[in-house]
Amino acid sequence: MPRKLLIFDTTLRDGEQVPGAKLNIDQKLVVAKQLERLGVDVIEAGFPVSSPGDAKAVNLVARQVRKPIIAGLARALKKDIDILWEAIKDADRPRIHVFLAASDVHIEKKLRLNREQALEMAVEAVKYAKKYCPNVEFSPEDATRADFDYLCQVVEETIKAGATVINIPDTVGYTIPEEFGRLIRKLRERVPTTDKIILSVHCHNDLGLATANSIAAIVNGATQVECTINGIGERAGNAALEEIVMILKTRPQYFNIETNIVTPEIIPTSRLVSRMMNLPIQPNKAIVGANAFAHSSGVHQDGILKDRRTYEIIRPEDVGAQQHLLVLTARSGRKAVRQKLTDLGYDLSDETFEKIYKRFLSVADRKKEITAADLKSIVEVELSKV
Ligand code: KIV
Ligand code: ZN
Repeated sequence: MPRKLLIFDTTLRDGEQVPGAKLNIDQKLVVAKQLERLGVDVIEAGFPVSSPGDAKAVNLVARQVRKPIIAGLARALKKDIDILWEAIKDADRPRIHVFLAASDVHIEKKLRLNREQALEMAVEAVKYAKKYCPNVEFSPEDATRADFDYLCQVVEETIKAGATVINIPDTVGYTIPEEFGRLIRKLRERVPTTDKIILSVHCHNDLGLATANSIAAIVNGATQVECTINGIGERAGNAALEEIVMILKTRPQYFNIETNIVTPEIIPTSRLVSRMMNLPIQPNKAIVGANAFAHSSGVHQDGILKDRRTYEIIRPEDVGAQQHLLVLTARSGRKAVRQKLTDLGYDLSDETFEKIYKRFLSVADRKKEITAADLKSIVEVELSKV
């Protein structure tokens, strides 16, 4: 039986921290409803103490989006937890997510505390949150730069205090896959109670490794992954939901892990988030970029036309994309141009096609891409000569 991986989407919290990406209340609800259609297990709807508007938006999501768990973020402070609880208490399944620094640089330089004080604060905060809500997640911030023994102690004590989810964040995208996988494995060995809770990971992309690090952690026993649509988030972003989900789905024999994600909803969700948050998607972005299923070289186009599996490891329709795109450029061969002409409704003799193809190549040498309109005018010019 495949093991289930829980998908915790933080597009509306960590993703919304991108400068200029702020959503208004109604937009937040639209995105949350789409995340529900996508099948995420948890929506982190916001950080209610950050502004009254965010608290209101989180509350709206909590009241109107029923299927996923609705989480909100709080620092390890009573005031944050009180405000968060007010915002999410109407959800069918609320979750309080508390975080506190675990690395020395964060504890000493940012919080101006020592390890013992930070540990006590974390434990008190989890106990306090637990009075409101049975479902409490704790994140030891900057875990990958923390002293490992101290990290184990924090995890053990916060589980004892009532945390039902422990999330290990690579807050500054510092770790590398092999090291992060080992950290998760060793943490499970050193703190056996991690087997009784949900063990989550949350990776940032500062070194371009957020997806790879998440996968390494999943292979080593993480049961929840935190991610965002299109990988948006602080600085270089967070692990991209669509990448993690499609890696697991594309290599089922290797991983034997399933998610609840309805993959044909991936592209619609990606486009919605991009549009609403004003964050364009790079064309070569894995899974959701405009070129992710576009083939431009003649050799590749020929292969695709014979059997799509030659150059396609994911069926575009499985992620909600239109069928693969054959982009016509000077690199395109006769087969792709012929196919496009047939799609456009032209039934041409071999002789006429050869003339058109010659003309196509000379236009394509000047233009980067030949559109359907370009191709039509090439054909019309050629046919008018007959
Ligand atoms: O990156 C991080 O450490 C976070 C935590 C609040 C989970 O976003
Ligand atoms: Zn984060």
